[in-house]
Amino acid sequence: MSRGKCKGRRILDGMKAIGVFPALRKVEVIDHPEPAIVSPTQAKMRVLDVGVCGTDREIISFQYGTPPAGDEYLVLGHESLSQVVEVGAQVTRVKPGDLVVMTVRRPCHHPECTACRAGRQDYCYTGDFTERGIKQQHGYMTELVVEEESYLAVVPAALRDVGVLVEPLTIAEKSLEQLKMVQQRLPWGCAGAPNVIDGHPCHAVVLGAGPVGLLGAMALRVSGFEVTIYSRSNTGAQKNEIADAIGAHYVAAETTSVEDLAKTVGAIDVVYEALGASAVAFEVIKYLGPNGVFIFTGVPGRKGPIEVDTDYIMKDVVLNNQVILGTVNAPPHCFEQAIHHLGEFMQRWPDAVRSLITARFPLERALEPLAVHAGGIKNVVTVSA
Ligand code: BGC
Ligand code: ZN
Repeated sequence: MSRGKCKGRRILDGMKAIGVFPALRKVEVIDHPEPAIVSPTQAKMRVLDVGVCGTDREIISFQYGTPPAGDEYLVLGHESLSQVVEVGAQVTRVKPGDLVVMTVRRPCHHPECTACRAGRQDYCYTGDFTERGIKQQHGYMTELVVEEESYLAVVPAALRDVGVLVEPLTIAEKSLEQLKMVQQRLPWGCAGAPNVIDGHPCHAVVLGAGPVGLLGAMALRVSGFEVTIYSRSNTGAQKNEIADAIGAHYVAAETTSVEDLAKTVGAIDVVYEALGASAVAFEVIKYLGPNGVFIFTGVPGRKGPIEVDTDYIMKDVVLNNQVILGTVNAPPHCFEQAIHHLGEFMQRWPDAVRSLITARFPLERALEPLAVHAGGIKNVVTVSA
């Protein structure tokens, strides 16, 4: 991991990393140069854990993902937990030894992009934002990383084992924040404690029981919602147990139609979509209740057009004051909120939270959890212990 000189020739013995080469259509363990702090506001981190998600699978199958300008490869990984090892002279919020999670998106450089100029690149107007491990910035599946202090969120040492879940949880945090804003239109509210209308609790349906869905279900539970998780298969005994532990209902699409789901739940106040399957989503939209909010977080693969009863949906959306919103990425304060919530989840359901992490792999074996049929809930690449 050091740079040395040998008979006038500079030897670059870098660090191990997972490199995706889109032009060559290959993914492999590579040698990647060690980064150095170049500004007093930066910190250097030793990467501990990196979570694997659907976005990574798209990137390694070359449907998505772009290397930084001038580079042949992109270092993969955007869901991280690391430990600070060195800080620049002006860094004040973190110190060596601290655990941190790095945010993912970096601003575009257009002066007219009000979102990026306000530090809200999660709402970037131009599309010229970059994302670590995804779009034009190297990611976190490597040994050492340098980052600006402003992109770091400090994680308490007690969350060492599960801190890698912070980034996928930020998707739910940004969703909940928007849900609360939207439902401020209802003078009696339905998106913040006590979440009760005339003695009836608010009902949320979570579509999908992957990490984003299950973490979303947990966030909805601690926010006071009745939660029903609607997932493709019946086979996930572990997912059933997690649902039980957090006091959510688990309904399998295999055995229960959307129509029957809607009958059991009653009026649905919120749908939190974390499935990325548009056919199911648009079926469920039909059963969204009065003043309901439908939140899309999944990115579907292109499977060709499907038939949807658009007149029915449009009429229903209008006559029921419904809101359909899509959300992507998350700003720093949602990382803070995710860390806070994760601590709360660990107080209430430590085993359920731990069981979300189903397997850990060393960096050299990172391609195994990236395989399409890897199975499990959240698989993690352990870069260093
Ligand atoms: C990440 C987001 C990112 C999105 C689109 C997701 O997997 O969690 O941070 O904005 O992919 O690239
Ligand atoms: Zn992700």
